[in-house]
Amino acid sequence: MPRAKYQFPSGFLWGTATAAHQVEGNNTNNNWWQWEQTPGNILNGDKSGLACDWWGGRWEEDFDRVANTHQNAHRFSIEWSRIQPSPSRWDDNAIDVYREMLKGLIKRNMVPMVTLHHFTDPIWFNEQGGWENEKSVECFIKFTRKVVKAFKDYVHLWVTINEPNVYLFGGYMHGGFPPGYNSLVRAFRAGVNLLKAHAGSYHAIHKLQSDALVGMAHNYRSIKPAHNWCLPESFLARQLKRNFHTFAYAAQNGVFSLLTTRKRVPAASNTQDFIGVNYYSQDIVSFDIRNPSTLFGRLHYPDGSDLSGSGFIANVPDGMFEALHWALHFNRPIYVTENGVEDAEDKMRPRYITQHIHKIWRAVNFNWPIKGYFHWSLVDNFEWERGWSQRFGLWGLDVATQKRIRRPSVDLYASICKENALSSDLVQKYAPEAFESIFPG
Ligand code: BGC
Repeated sequence: MPRAKYQFPSGFLWGTATAAHQVEGNNTNNNWWQWEQTPGNILNGDKSGLACDWWGGRWEEDFDRVANTHQNAHRFSIEWSRIQPSPSRWDDNAIDVYREMLKGLIKRNMVPMVTLHHFTDPIWFNEQGGWENEKSVECFIKFTRKVVKAFKDYVHLWVTINEPNVYLFGGYMHGGFPPGYNSLVRAFRAGVNLLKAHAGSYHAIHKLQSDALVGMAHNYRSIKPAHNWCLPESFLARQLKRNFHTFAYAAQNGVFSLLTTRKRVPAASNTQDFIGVNYYSQDIVSFDIRNPSTLFGRLHYPDGSDLSGSGFIANVPDGMFEALHWALHFNRPIYVTENGVEDAEDKMRPRYITQHIHKIWRAVNFNWPIKGYFHWSLVDNFEWERGWSQRFGLWGLDVATQKRIRRPSVDLYASICKENALSSDLVQKYAPEAFESIFPG
């Protein structure tokens, strides 16, 4: 059996990622809370409720957990509706809580990465038309200024908007996210404003904090044609990729495009100091005459995929390498801002983690500028329209008692973080079934 250690560069960030609405609890003043109240919107009628009770103070014990398991960074988000409960009111108590959380990370020698928008909007913001209203841009910039003024002494790494592509697709095209629309016209309007808001936020942060590093977290989907020789499938795969990743291109060239519609947003050119990559899985596109609404394409997982418990994620580590290669073309430092799998039993997670981190190491080994990895997630949390049905945490959560359950992956990840490396011994111990793919012998 070969023995080896894949070492990462010193200073590499190892952490987990969370989002306010998914962990804080009692976020009663945002659009998701409202959405959860309508039967049918969330699987099994689940509600975020107390979530992981971070607002009740349990962030503190969870930050202990990650610091004690050798993580040196954490990515979390600030809930806009808490900081600005109404258009004319800022909540200083909420600002104090986030300041304590940031101090809590720094005290534990952890680098914070802060996201300003992770899928949720204040209710008042939606009542004035949400992202379809041009005013949304200025509102978000105002919120950005407030947050950056308050926290710039503690935060250097900012994510303006998490996965604007997923937000737009979910809320304006597929309709499974609030506001629940299914309209390309609305999606385009909202998309342009999201891009303008990102750009305005980028410039506002730099004005207040010249050495800040600002980016977006992009959900990268590896989309492949079922048959390389099939021209319609290759064409579709290219189109889907181009459109799904549109925000990343727009934040580079200042042009927002969706299908055949384009809009120049010059302020958005070159507004990423780093590229955040959220990678989970790969899709295959097959030509299917029965699907005219999706340009005759049908998306599915590769045949014979290694699937997660509910089939939500296929374990395709090569897609991580592809995602990093895609990110490389933007010529900026890269952070893996999310990567993980739902797996209550922790059966797949150890191989998912080791196989994906192996691909990241390969990219690092080519000298690609990858600066950190944030595993999704620290502890099981509220999975949006899938409620509590999916468990992404290194630690499990008993929602009723708030008890944390330490899964074996905690110790696996702790060793990787501690050694700043992925070793053959570790893979042999935690994911022997993945050994041959990582250390071929
Ligand atoms: C989102 C997270 C979510 C995760 C797993 C990502 O697209 O940013 O909020 O929990 O996927 O579904």
